[in-house]
Amino acid sequence: MRRSSLVVVANRLPLDDNVAPDGACEWRRSPGGLAGALHAILEQTPATWVGWAGDLGQARDLPDIGTLRLRPVWLSEEEQRGYYEGFANSTLWPLYHDAVEQPVFDRGWWETYRAVNRRFAEAAAEVAEPGATVWVQDYHLQLVPQLIRELRPDVRIGFFLHVPFPPPELFMQLPRRVELLRGMLGADLVGFQRPQAAHNVAQLAAKLLDAHGADDAITLDGRLVRTGAFPVSIDVAEMRSLSARPYVVNQARQLRHDLGAHKRVLLSVDRLDYTKGIEHRLTAYSELLRDGRVKVRDAVMVQVAVPSRERVESYRGLRDRIEREVGRINGEYGRVGEPAIHYLNQPFDRADLAALYQTADVMVVTPLRDGMNLVAKEFVAARPDDSGALVLSEFAGAAAEMEDAFLVNPHDVDGLKETLLQALAAAPEDLATRMKAMRAHITSNDIHAWARAYLSALEDSKALRPVS
Ligand code: ADP
Ligand code: G6P
Repeated sequence: MRRSSLVVVANRLPLDDNVAPDGACEWRRSPGGLAGALHAILEQTPATWVGWAGDLGQARDLPDIGTLRLRPVWLSEEEQRGYYEGFANSTLWPLYHDAVEQPVFDRGWWETYRAVNRRFAEAAAEVAEPGATVWVQDYHLQLVPQLIRELRPDVRIGFFLHVPFPPPELFMQLPRRVELLRGMLGADLVGFQRPQAAHNVAQLAAKLLDAHGADDAITLDGRLVRTGAFPVSIDVAEMRSLSARPYVVNQARQLRHDLGAHKRVLLSVDRLDYTKGIEHRLTAYSELLRDGRVKVRDAVMVQVAVPSRERVESYRGLRDRIEREVGRINGEYGRVGEPAIHYLNQPFDRADLAALYQTADVMVVTPLRDGMNLVAKEFVAARPDDSGALVLSEFAGAAAEMEDAFLVNPHDVDGLKETLLQALAAAPEDLATRMKAMRAHITSNDIHAWARAYLSALEDSKALRPVS
């Protein structure tokens, strides 16, 4: 058994669906912030990634990706239903996103979630060398830090939550709230996107676990757990160099031509998820068309919505509703050869995404709740000429860092309409000032800065002892 000094544990392995016949295997870059963020930092670091092999079936020996080793965890069909589709994505995901969709509590799912978390912890314990750093990711694996601590007290354990941590009154609804909180606090350092999350956890730890402490450290069972905000980011240099590639520049030019050279382009790029506010956005755009404030001959909307969690009922329902609504809007307001909305329910590779970002006059990122939202940052990185407007939800973690965006409350459809018009009408100098400020921020706070900040705080955490 080969062991590593850095072990990342995440629900999914980040590899391509198709391992080539010669065994070669590429980063999957699955749509979703987690894989994208870690991809940038792990490609060149010796480490092992423990994760679910997804559609890769029973292929036992997965090849290394550069310096990264892969340690697959296998899930049966029943486990996928109970752990991934059930407890992770029908209980925790909606609850952690302000319950914008009703969370489902199913007692059977909990047992599966616990069993699968144990399997991930055992796999991580097996591949971690003595004194290693084990970095556990996201809500799927919230019990893993404590389980690893029991199996391997010698290792340093980090946990990072990519999604929001809910306010105490919502977390308190969880039937297994004590175990979930204790599991996560098994880490030496628990990282969040926003400081408010650490505050919520400190309050809950005091209430449910009789722990004491503040927003940056909690003492639990005589052990010090550090907490803090580490806003995740993107590989700015990668997006910038992609954007300069001749293929991307030509592709962007072609897209603009295909969409109508004189038209203003409003673009949205999301996983097809009810947290992303796609329906509210469609309502706002459709009302602007209805009221004649935006005309199909002058503007076009492009909504990329990549398929996600398609076996989960609420996602299937959402897709049906969105597709009906896009059909209705195009039916009512489109003209021959001129749809009001282009809807693309498909994955794109990075170069084509960069081209799309360059095509937009207004990038519309309006989630109802989002841990961070990397699409907003990618858009800014893809526009080195400082053109374009970013309309950004106040409820995305990114809003705290990108105050120069056109910030909006996506629940307020009238406000959303006004903000879209404001962005469409903004002067180029105003847009350039905003884009410069946002780009300066993400350039100095890129994915490498995030990983450095988190991993050095984790390193320091071991030296700390509880205050008596
Ligand atoms: P989430 O993690 O909730 O999906 P983020 O905005 O943080 O939201 O991350 C989404 C990631 O998925 C981004 O890196 C984005 O480029 C990528 N992505 C979004 N849509 C697509 C698509 N259609 N094809 C490929 N990648 C996509
Ligand atoms: C969000 C989550 C990630 C997840 C991604 C894609 O970014 O925070 O943990 O991997 O969505 O979702 P999926 O269910 O396809 O892994």
